[in-house]
Amino acid sequence: MIRLNNVSRSYNSGSSSTTALSNITLNIKKGEFIAIVGPSGSGKTTLLNIIGGLDTPTTGEVLFNKKNLKKLNDDQLSKYRNNEIGFIFQEFHLEPHLSVYDNVLLPAYFNNKTQKEENRTKKLIEEVQLSKKSQSKASELSGGEKQRTAIARALINNPQIILADEPTGNLDLKTGATILKLLKTLHKNHNTTLIVATHDEKIAASANKIIKL
Ligand SMILES: Nc1ncnc2c1ncn2[C@@H]1O[C@H](COP(=O)(O)OP(=O)(O)O)[C@@H](O)[C@H]1O
Ligand SMILES: [Mg+2]
Repeated sequence: MIRLNNVSRSYNSGSSSTTALSNITLNIKKGEFIAIVGPSGSGKTTLLNIIGGLDTPTTGEVLFNKKNLKKLNDDQLSKYRNNEIGFIFQEFHLEPHLSVYDNVLLPAYFNNKTQKEENRTKKLIEEVQLSKKSQSKASELSGGEKQRTAIARALINNPQIILADEPTGNLDLKTGATILKLLKTLHKNHNTTLIVATHDEKIAASANKIIKL
């Protein structure tokens, strides 16, 4: 489903250049659970951003279902990001003043907010076991609850791929373990491809494939 051909990404500033990724070639199949591991600064976030269409390679190409992301126009690329990809971040990136419900529904506003999406929001909030907190503001949640909200939000547009950047990095061990369990369950139930950048050995151990950077 995803193919990277010789992907490199470097950043130039003045006379110095940093290579974030160097010649990455890989294939990810539909439904796989992939862990991306490597020390801080090894390019994990850069790789996720490139797969998610938030960043572009300096050289090489990214194919999604055989379509080259480089050939998409701005409109097609934002559709790819919004409809095919669900992002989960270490820092949650929720809207603090909005409720759990509105945070989950938010990415669907960019399509059409219909009854169908409202129903899906409710169902996803049940799936991440936050029904009781549905009307609470994001700023009033615990870390684990914030991440559950972010996971439901990532699934609202029924994406083919979930990209999670150190999703347990800001959580204590026990909460991290329940978030991992939830991610694995949802990955299976929603038939998505799951790509997780992580330092967490437990996450890496339960993946189908580990990519070391
Ligand atoms: N916007 C940027 N400008 C310059 N250098 C960057 C930028 N983003 C990342 N880098 C550099 O690219 C390398 C990889 O970073 P990153 O992908 O964030 O790694 P990781 O997520 O594994 O910690 C690091 O050396 C980092 O400093
Ligand atoms: Mg990172």
